[in-house]
Amino acid sequence: MRHIMVTGGAGFIGSNFVRYMLQNYPAYNIVVYDKLTYAGRLENLQDVAEAFEGRYAFVKGDICDADRVEQTIKQHRIDTLINFAAETHVDRSLVEPGSFIQTDVYGTYVLLEAARKFELERYHQISTDEVYGQVLDGRSTEADHLEPRSPYAASKASGDLMVLAYQESWNLPITITRGSNNIGPYQYPEKVVPLFTTNAIDDRPLPVYGDGKQMRDYQYVLDHCTGIDTVLHKGVLGEIYNVGTGSEITNIEMTKIILHTLGKSENLIQYVEDRPGHDRRYALDISKLCALGWNSTVPCEAAIEQTVHWYVANAWWWQPIKNGELYKAYYAQQYAQRLEKGAAVG
Ligand code: NAD
Ligand code: DAU
Repeated sequence: MRHIMVTGGAGFIGSNFVRYMLQNYPAYNIVVYDKLTYAGRLENLQDVAEAFEGRYAFVKGDICDADRVEQTIKQHRIDTLINFAAETHVDRSLVEPGSFIQTDVYGTYVLLEAARKFELERYHQISTDEVYGQVLDGRSTEADHLEPRSPYAASKASGDLMVLAYQESWNLPITITRGSNNIGPYQYPEKVVPLFTTNAIDDRPLPVYGDGKQMRDYQYVLDHCTGIDTVLHKGVLGEIYNVGTGSEITNIEMTKIILHTLGKSENLIQYVEDRPGHDRRYALDISKLCALGWNSTVPCEAAIEQTVHWYVANAWWWQPIKNGELYKAYYAQQYAQRLEKGAAVG
């Protein structure tokens, strides 16, 4: 029997992971601990709460709140902590870096202290390929130096370094996974694939940053989940594992796949002012994880198509988000000027 605490489990990847684990490990119990920021939503776990009553619990809490974290660990006899909780959107980190430092760095420290105090069997940190910085040639291996370039990436890299420091200093049983761009069900429509898909469904412009030739490894979220599962069960303590498809496409290619899947015109594409410090390419070497017997199963193009189909079928989930005042304010701040300037240039 494992008692797992999943911090950030009401977000995109966390909720997919919780569903996957409860379906695949009947002996495991999971407690989701989540602050429910704009990105955390109980709707993401509605079906889980119904299907796995008795093996699933939800606690609303901030990972920066040490007392609440400790109380949850004690009350639910937690032996394994998996930390998904983070501020995650690069564009927001360029506007307001403070909350990224608070959650992604200080919050990680609070969780590590708790893991040490309660002598947990495992602390697993969910990290990102962005910590390596942009990779113009070749692929990032787990031994590469960290060269983060955005406040988001720097906060995640700091979290990773703290995790490694706890392993070195106190022999904390840790593992880290560094994933590439995830796509799939329940991704908040600020990230590019759900943003472009839902805009296209509504016949609104798709704001492509810069020349659209930046490269990303778009992986289906369930492949990331099986990668984390593999590391939890077969990974070596103290080690880091990259998780991705191991291949990349350009943003403009990704955009055209979305439009073609929906049968929409490429006239919806609008090139707009670039993201400051925009990383040109991320590319992962995934051989270390593959050596544990894991493989990515969904190629990039199919992952995008499956994701588009989910958003078409699940407007109940994203329409209330996009119609909300918070989202509209974010969209105006991020895109109003860009789209106006882009239209003037065009
Ligand atoms: P998300 O933004 O969808 O969800 C983040 C979750 O964390 C939300 O439920 C939110 O409420 C919660 N949270 C935020 N601050 C918190 C706090 N202080 N205390 C408790 N909960 C808090 O994020 P996601 O895309 O699912 O990413 C999950 C993790 O995976 C993050 O650590 C992210 O850095 C990492 N990651 C994401 C991707 C990607 O493509 N989305 C790729 C690689 C790694
Ligand atoms: O690589 C893993 C990372 O992927 C995760 O760690 C992050 O949490 C996640 O947000 C994601 O970061 P990106 O910055 O790569 O994702 P985003 O969806 O914001 O952007 C993907 C690409 O699309 C990037 O090159 C910027 C571009 N883009 C994005 C938006 C939102 C656009 O061209 N237009 C847009 O409106």
